[in-house]
Amino acid sequence: MQTIQKITSDVYYIGACDMRHRLFENIYPVPEGMTYNAYLIADDKTVLTDTCDVSVRDRFLENLKAALNGRPLDYVFVHHMEPDHCAVLDDVLTLFPAARIVCNAKTQILIGQFFNRDVSDRVLIVKEGDTLATGRHAFTFYMAPMVHWPEVMVSYDAADKILFSADAFGSFGTMNECLFADGRDIDRDWLPEARRYYTNIVGKYGPSVQALLKKAAGLDIQMICPLHGPIWRRDLARLLDKYQKWSTYTPEEKGVVIVYGSIYGHTENAACALAQKLSDRGVYPVHLYDASLTHPSYIVAEAFCYSHLVFASVTYNNGIFPPVETVLLDLKAHNFQNRSVALIQNGSWAPASGKLMAALLSDMKGITLRNTVITIASALKPEQESDLNALADELAADWVS
Ligand code: FEO
Repeated sequence: MQTIQKITSDVYYIGACDMRHRLFENIYPVPEGMTYNAYLIADDKTVLTDTCDVSVRDRFLENLKAALNGRPLDYVFVHHMEPDHCAVLDDVLTLFPAARIVCNAKTQILIGQFFNRDVSDRVLIVKEGDTLATGRHAFTFYMAPMVHWPEVMVSYDAADKILFSADAFGSFGTMNECLFADGRDIDRDWLPEARRYYTNIVGKYGPSVQALLKKAAGLDIQMICPLHGPIWRRDLARLLDKYQKWSTYTPEEKGVVIVYGSIYGHTENAACALAQKLSDRGVYPVHLYDASLTHPSYIVAEAFCYSHLVFASVTYNNGIFPPVETVLLDLKAHNFQNRSVALIQNGSWAPASGKLMAALLSDMKGITLRNTVITIASALKPEQESDLNALADELAADWVS
């Protein structure tokens, strides 16, 4: 059965949720599913923006036909040519042979790469600031390169003051319970998975997101329709504040994330003891993650959220314990910046993980390594409590205003 929803007088949500696949991009766990949003504007001319992932192809096509209600499709906007939004483009072009693709020149190249179809006679190429009127609506196109691919663009509808924002302002998770962000508890039901989506998918491209935010600041936006996650029509300032912080690598709040890699529990013991000592000194919140057990995407999101990090790793094959190294490499890949970081290393005969972690962190901008580095030889000894106290004191000093 079709699942379309009207979001303004003639704009329909026609996307669909995928609850079956456990991984997005075949790497990120999506235990709460994933939405692939698409919209149909039933104006004098009909406009589809965008298509969807192959996983929800059947539901999307049923929705598209229902929203068109027998009318032909005149335009399909391709804001982003990644297959989670364009896998069904080929089907749409076959079903609606008169439909024209509205995209930029880079997108046209990608269409040719993904599909065995010459679309040159069906493409309407748009550039920055171009406008397309379809009746009541008039869409202006803005390029948003690297949010999240180089060809990404967004469009602004002057009639309903909607920003069709592509990947920007998206989220992991489904929204069967409510299409709109204002229909849910934002902190509980949106923020964690939106942060994890942003930091892992778009986090690397902060300057590009900043460029888009500057363009958006010049528009009278009443509604944001992303390609994933809920639609925003209230509290836009709250959403924009999060994007401002995330895209400038600014912590959302003070807090300590302790990431540890432990083989037999001794490094874990040190991490837990430090957490307890921080708590004793009034440092809050402190979040502990065993890198062997938590998918790195969750730790990357937590790292973007908080001001302080502690990495504790055993020395393994004369290197960093691989699960901790994966987190560090992931942070580096996502252009992670501007944090205070402390290190704990363990090594039974040749501790090296501290030096190696410091080397990885030194490649990241604005990372301040704390003076105190704790070295454990196999297991934390009672006489090393003073070392832990010194590190806890050093970190807690940042909580004294
Ligand atoms: Fe949701 Fe970059 O695709």
